[in-house]
Amino acid sequence: MTGQPAGANLLSYHRQKAPRPNPQRHDPMANTHPLRIEIAAPSRSYPVLVAAGMIQDLESALKEAGVGASCFVVSSPTVWGFWGEAFHGALPEAAPIVVPDGERHKTPAVASRIYDGLLKGGADRSSTLITFGGGVIGDMGGFAAATYMRGIGLAHVPTTLLAQVDAAIGGKVGINLPGGKNLVGAFYQPSIVVIDPGVLATLPRREFRAGLYEVLKYGVACDRDLFDEVCAGMGPLTRRDPAALTPVITACCRVKGAIVAADERETGARRVLNFGHTVGHALEAATRYRRLLHGEAVAYGMLAACAIAVARGALAAADRNTIAGAIAQLGPLPPVNDLSAAAQLEFMQHDKKVHEGRLHFVLPAGIGNSEIVTDVSEVELLRALRELGLGE
Ligand SMILES: NC(=O)c1ccc[n+]([C@@H]2O[C@H](COP(=O)([O-])OP(=O)(O)OC[C@H]3O[C@@H](n4cnc5c(N)ncnc54)[C@H](O)[C@@H]3O)[C@@H](O)[C@H]2O)c1
Ligand SMILES: [Zn+2]
Repeated sequence: MTGQPAGANLLSYHRQKAPRPNPQRHDPMANTHPLRIEIAAPSRSYPVLVAAGMIQDLESALKEAGVGASCFVVSSPTVWGFWGEAFHGALPEAAPIVVPDGERHKTPAVASRIYDGLLKGGADRSSTLITFGGGVIGDMGGFAAATYMRGIGLAHVPTTLLAQVDAAIGGKVGINLPGGKNLVGAFYQPSIVVIDPGVLATLPRREFRAGLYEVLKYGVACDRDLFDEVCAGMGPLTRRDPAALTPVITACCRVKGAIVAADERETGARRVLNFGHTVGHALEAATRYRRLLHGEAVAYGMLAACAIAVARGALAAADRNTIAGAIAQLGPLPPVNDLSAAAQLEFMQHDKKVHEGRLHFVLPAGIGNSEIVTDVSEVELLRALRELGLGE
């Protein structure tokens, strides 16, 4: 399942222009010139708009993307509590459907509550669902939009750093099953993504940091300039200065957009974005998704991939130290030294990155440059995991 139904949404999307600033508003946060990135996915092309204060301008942005009068917003009690009033003020016609977020609520039961909200509100195939929350709300709301009446309009307004740089771009939507993460889903591109770095002000510090590890992932895997920019701007970034965040978020969206344009359904190039995720997913599963935030697990995964690459002679030790230094600068990671290295291998065998019995592994070949290999041995993996402090 890809794309959205042709019709009013799609047609008016092609006529859209960049949103105009509203001179009537005097919000000091409002940036009147959103940065714009076009995501040219094969199934649909759409804009990502990035500017502090953008949620004040939601109406003009969404209208110009073809979002019509019938629209719904899916959010969580936390996000709606902080930002619901601002959202409602900017887009009063969007009927709110508030459901719990957090990984354990990314379930068929909660998705079903979204369907109920749509049904009760009289949503039909001309309606648009706007997701307003982190990656869980984006993935689950996106999945509901992809499947309700075989697909309605979708727009993302992501509110965590992770969702702004990653989850909201590229069209992967889905929910978890008891048997594993994201086991049910679709590729379903939105018609627009609106990113306001200002909403990150209320994000818990640990969640914000977890997003920054994913930003480093883009830098190490495919963009040296981005990596350098993040390292040089660590102070203002961690203070969440929108002026520092805006270009970094935009750069991440650009990298992800280029990769999605080349490989929408992750059969090749898109796999490079799994840098740090093979070991990361194993650590998340081994700690039952309770100890490590996703970004923190990815940070460990990047360190493991660096250790393997250095041992193979594919990455200079100095580069590894620079990467490890950047990760360390963001603060301490939760400990993993009570975990067994051998047990992680078991978890990796169940990962979706195993294709025809071979584990796909992204190894850095420098900062900003990486390669996908399929020949990482158990011995190499165990050695790398022990370097991270894991036990036998
Ligand atoms: N679709 C994709 O391509 C893709 C990519 C990466 C991750 N994901 C998915 O994203 C999910 C993780 O997303 P996440 O890290 O955003 O987690 P999340 O959605 O659970 O949000 C984390 C926490 O932050 C809170 N929150 C969100 N925005 C806030 C704000 N502005 N202020 C205060 N609190 C706020 C939420 O209530 C929640 O408690 C995972 O399910 C993962 O599978 C999807
Ligand atoms: Zn990730």
